[in-house]
Amino acid sequence: MPHSRRSFLIGASAGALGCVGGARVRIEDGVTVVDVTDPPPGTTHEDTAAPPTQTGDTGGGGTTTPQTPTGGPEPSVAWEPEGPVDAVTFACGIQTGDATPDGVMVTVRQFAEERLRVVVARGEADRWVQVAEITGLVPDRGVVRVELVGLWPDHTYGVVAYAGDGLRRTVVGRFRTALPPGSSRVVRLGATSCLGSTNAPWPNLSFAAEHQLDAFLLLGDTIYADDGITPASRWEQHWTDALSTSGLRDLTAATSVVATWDDHEVTNNWNWQDDGDEAQSGLAAFRRALPMRDGPAGTGIWRRLAWGDAVELFVLDCRGERTRTSYLGPEQDAWLRATLAASTARFKIILNSVPIADLGLLSSDGWMDFREDRRQLLQYIRDEGITGVLWVAGDVHWATLCTVDPPGERFDDVLEAFAGPAGSTLNPAGVLTPEGGQFLEVIRLHNWLRLECDPDANEVRLAWIGDDGGVLTRRTVRM
Ligand SMILES: [Fe+2]
Repeated sequence: MPHSRRSFLIGASAGALGCVGGARVRIEDGVTVVDVTDPPPGTTHEDTAAPPTQTGDTGGGGTTTPQTPTGGPEPSVAWEPEGPVDAVTFACGIQTGDATPDGVMVTVRQFAEERLRVVVARGEADRWVQVAEITGLVPDRGVVRVELVGLWPDHTYGVVAYAGDGLRRTVVGRFRTALPPGSSRVVRLGATSCLGSTNAPWPNLSFAAEHQLDAFLLLGDTIYADDGITPASRWEQHWTDALSTSGLRDLTAATSVVATWDDHEVTNNWNWQDDGDEAQSGLAAFRRALPMRDGPAGTGIWRRLAWGDAVELFVLDCRGERTRTSYLGPEQDAWLRATLAASTARFKIILNSVPIADLGLLSSDGWMDFREDRRQLLQYIRDEGITGVLWVAGDVHWATLCTVDPPGERFDDVLEAFAGPAGSTLNPAGVLTPEGGQFLEVIRLHNWLRLECDPDANEVRLAWIGDDGGVLTRRTVRM
């Protein structure tokens, strides 16, 4: 293929773009970048310098003016913008992703409107303050992608998109901007994987809104594009189906996502050597479907996102960089080691589509096929004295908290939590897996995992949430 793996930047034309108020707009790599410069109290747009936009490695970044407030309240009332929700045109709702201290990525998917208008509001204790209105957004094959910058760190925002008539709208997408560097608090995350059709419409995910999460980790197999036919539209249809399913639509209305992919975003157990063309199409559709930033290299999927001094998220691409001799690929492997070693965050959470835990005979198409890579990486983390590492994985269709090696073996002190499946068929292996040894707990129902990362208590409190919204089981990890 003449183009690189990351060449699928999404096109979108500017049309008659405009902003109401002081926001500034530009187009970058097909994404409409809106500089909100939400001014701190006592200032105006005119005397607020526009913060620079981040590119490349997304970790730790964001810029904040010294007087910008942090630690904003969660509003006591939901934002109710004008106009009725059009659940047909906007069946996919609205998605936000990859929040930083001063920004977020936004995606709106629909196929009827020629122009969209997007409105952004910041939550205060008991009301919402509109901070930006962007008009004239022209969808590219149905999808509008916006990057908001200039937001306040650690605040709750809402974003909504309107149809061309100016009345009908999407549901509200709530999100929280990340903590700025140097600050810390309990960070509340969700995670799941494997949104297959068995348990559609994924009722467990609809309860995410009750938890006011800071972000939600999608660990892969968000779609199952294994239908044996090859038109490029197949991926688009799978994504439209997934995003319009109530569980995922409710989830993405409630918090921003941080997504990686696994095999089923392309096809079962694919690899670049044999399925490169399909992978390119699957990658392009994935990056169009979910709002995400461009990582430093390769597929652009692997990247780092910081939540102050409390949490750093290391998003792995365990599919698109793989070669016959390297699981992560040399570039991603070097990046992961360097950024883990440099991280000062209390908790380092690694988004890992297929478990790094040794599942014995149940291990397939993952780390255990690259045993030396696995050993060297885990040994590096140990040798460098890197603390606070928690692996979080999906793929296997049962959930657990486990050690990555059985008791008595080399890495029996390294922890991994499995999340999901939210929707796919439950794996009988979960029933057969005994509890109490390597697998401290086994969850054999559809679920998502809540992670309360508490730096002061030096612990991560885990709770798996089921289809009725109740807690299936809890575990606390002290690190
Ligand atoms: Fe799966």
